[in-house]
Amino acid sequence: MINTENRVTEILGIKYPIIQGAMSWITNAEFVASVSNAGGLGMLGPHAGHHTNPTSFDEIFDRLKAEIRKVKTLTDKPFGVPVILSYDLSTVDVIADLLIDEGVKVVLLNGMDGFDYGPLIKKFKGNNMKTIFRSLTPSIENAQYAEKIGADILVATGFDEGGTVPEKVIGTFSIVPMIADTVDIPVMAAGGIADARGVRAAFALGAEGVFAGTVFIATKENPAAENVKQLILTHTASDLLLFKTNPAYYRSIPTPYSRELLAMDEGGKARDEIADKMYTEQGLKVGMLDGDLERGYVTVGNGLSYIKSIRSVKEVVEDLMQDFK
Ligand SMILES: Cc1cc2nc3c(=O)[nH]c(=O)nc-3n(C[C@H](O)[C@H](O)[C@H](O)COP(=O)(O)O)c2cc1C
Repeated sequence: MINTENRVTEILGIKYPIIQGAMSWITNAEFVASVSNAGGLGMLGPHAGHHTNPTSFDEIFDRLKAEIRKVKTLTDKPFGVPVILSYDLSTVDVIADLLIDEGVKVVLLNGMDGFDYGPLIKKFKGNNMKTIFRSLTPSIENAQYAEKIGADILVATGFDEGGTVPEKVIGTFSIVPMIADTVDIPVMAAGGIADARGVRAAFALGAEGVFAGTVFIATKENPAAENVKQLILTHTASDLLLFKTNPAYYRSIPTPYSRELLAMDEGGKARDEIADKMYTEQGLKVGMLDGDLERGYVTVGNGLSYIKSIRSVKEVVEDLMQDFK
């Protein structure tokens, strides 16, 4: 039985210990507000609410500011924003100040090894904000580091996830207890969780909440293309293509474009060359937002096998969190 007194809900000021993970291109204010209004924590991702590439950092900044303001008109509940929007770390301080000025309550830190998050966390704490630390390469060392520098919540991400898959091939079932055993701050489980069984398993393994992406794509409110949502309903984990990129790995539902990426990997192309193609051709946006499968990929986690219908965000949250009622 799951204990309904929960540190994650207390820390974040939300009803249910569920966070919708940041997802490039396929979030917007309406979708994020619907997660927060359903009792979870919605999270804007990079390029939230947009269909075109920004041409400058100023444009990224202005777009994010407008989208944050829009979320605030749609919900009075907390929501989150990542402070690192790309691998260009030089913009982090400017984005951090924006989040402070806009009164954002929760910040996602994509823990990149070697970057000093201490001053950022201190700054956010000083402004009464909560920080969630999610390393792209989860390990005991970076979990202990995050706790030491004052992160409020940690996400342990397993190899089952969608998006950029962690470098180390450690499944969600193994990474969650490994991390939960090493820190005292609450740990959320991420990767492949798409129904109440996964939530129960996460709690049995020592997690105090779940962090999910894929299950939220197959919702009425998510801005992903309709054909992409249908692909999620008609595929299982065994269909997914897995290929190397930089950083780490990616997996995709088979599309003509994702087959090309797999062929590059199998043909011995360097990680950088594959990543270069994916990012310059905007394969995620073109595939998932525009629905053009000839020129784009559809990255999802292994939990897609048991997503069988397009529901509202509220139905998804209520289903996953059924033990908390
Ligand atoms: C389409 C897609 C795009 C993603 N983009 C990002 C991103 O831009 N930044 C990020 O921190 N995580 C990103 N993620 C990872 C999610 O935040 C989350 O960790 C992951 O979806 C959890 O695994 P699940 O999809 O199996 O539920 C993405 C995931 C997906 C499926």
